[in-house]
Amino acid sequence: MDDAAVHVLVFPWPRQGHINPMLHFATALVDAGVQVTFLHTERNLRRLAQAPPPGLRLLSIPDGQPDGHPPGFLELLESMSTTGSAAYRALLSAADAPVTCVVADSTIPFAFDIAEELGIPSLAFVTHSACSYLAILSMPKLVELGETAFPADDLVRGVPGMEGFLRRRDLPRGLCCAERGGEDPLVLKIAEVTARTSKARALIVNTAASMERSALAHIASCTTDVFAVGPLHARSRFAASASLWREDDECMAWLDGHDDRSVVYVSLGSLAVITHEQFTEFLAGLAATGYAFLWVLRPDMVQMASSALLREAVGAAEGGRGRVIEWAPQRDVLRHRAVGCFLTHAGWNSTLECAVEGVPMVCWPFFVDQQTNSRFVDAVWRTGLDMKDICDRGAVERTVREVMVSDEIWGVAQAMAQQLRLDVAETGSSSSDFERLVHFIGELKH
Ligand code: UDX
Repeated sequence: MDDAAVHVLVFPWPRQGHINPMLHFATALVDAGVQVTFLHTERNLRRLAQAPPPGLRLLSIPDGQPDGHPPGFLELLESMSTTGSAAYRALLSAADAPVTCVVADSTIPFAFDIAEELGIPSLAFVTHSACSYLAILSMPKLVELGETAFPADDLVRGVPGMEGFLRRRDLPRGLCCAERGGEDPLVLKIAEVTARTSKARALIVNTAASMERSALAHIASCTTDVFAVGPLHARSRFAASASLWREDDECMAWLDGHDDRSVVYVSLGSLAVITHEQFTEFLAGLAATGYAFLWVLRPDMVQMASSALLREAVGAAEGGRGRVIEWAPQRDVLRHRAVGCFLTHAGWNSTLECAVEGVPMVCWPFFVDQQTNSRFVDAVWRTGLDMKDICDRGAVERTVREVMVSDEIWGVAQAMAQQLRLDVAETGSSSSDFERLVHFIGELKH
């Protein structure tokens, strides 16, 4: 490596929904002439189904977890903070080319602490929305105010800029339908970790000012420098996602056989695990709509059920109208003319990917940021409807039907897509913020 070059170490939280946006970010940096090292865990590096984008150097550290064990967030944070952090420190200290700065996921506090200890500036990358970042940060205060639990429809006063529409049921929570609201230890831990991003030299958010102007302004008022550079996938030359599962490309031919806007695409992201009862309610609701559907059911997704069994259940109920796959080429699916709506958990990547294609959403949020994102989809952006914590066949049928036939929602979703394309075009606000960021990083070298 050229010692004179700006060299950024990009360190995502080792989960699919964090790797994807940070990989798009890394390739954008490479395109801007920056040298980039991308840090995976050893386990994920082995699992990657696809070659890395050219120009990107991949390194890895252990996650401290035994093989074959899918850990929860708190468990993984603990082992990453011990085993992973020691390897990270060693790697940073021994880097063959000096690291100008670290850009680490906002979820990994040790990444900032260790970098700064070694005299390396650190920047925090937020893979979720600006609105959910604010909501998460507000959680400890909301617990104090007693604003987190039921009654679910009461408006929340403690999250800046959202006083008029954010309800208690839209606040981050640990598990779908859990009744403990913000007292949930997972949410409070995430709030604590998120608060530590104030130590970072700047905050990079995968969002666009046109979508989240108010939330970004509130964040900017209490932090150093904020860069809204998203949706990053829409400006990335790296076409596919860095999937940890093998994508089922055959579903594209299946979509080709359907009319425009006639298929419901269903995916609850990379982490959600649903009960067998929830699966049954979704299936019955989808069947009752009469629409064809493409459903992503990861092998580990439904408690106590194999994917073969689920495929059989869907086949029997649907007489061929439903297709189940284990992992989709999601961005291609959303871009397909046959897709009329996306039944989604409202994870931020899925929300952005859907918004860029102008596809209406039906949201069934599962946890943490998704609760707030889905409220914004319904009440602020108006690009879809939010089922929130209701999961029964009637709600699924009603909401999917309503979104599929609504020209109004379709029109708003298409207008948002157009705006986002302008935002990531050469003179758009996200591109300008990205350029400003590259300059900011360059200045750190001096
Ligand atoms: C969670 C959070 O909800 C999200 O907001 C946070 O930033 C990361 O962790 P996750 O469940 O992974 O996210 O959902 P999402 O953010 O939507 O990311 C999933 C990614 O996997 C998307 O980029 C999506 O395109 C991809 N995906 C999903 C596929 O490529 N194929 C699939 O079949 C399903």
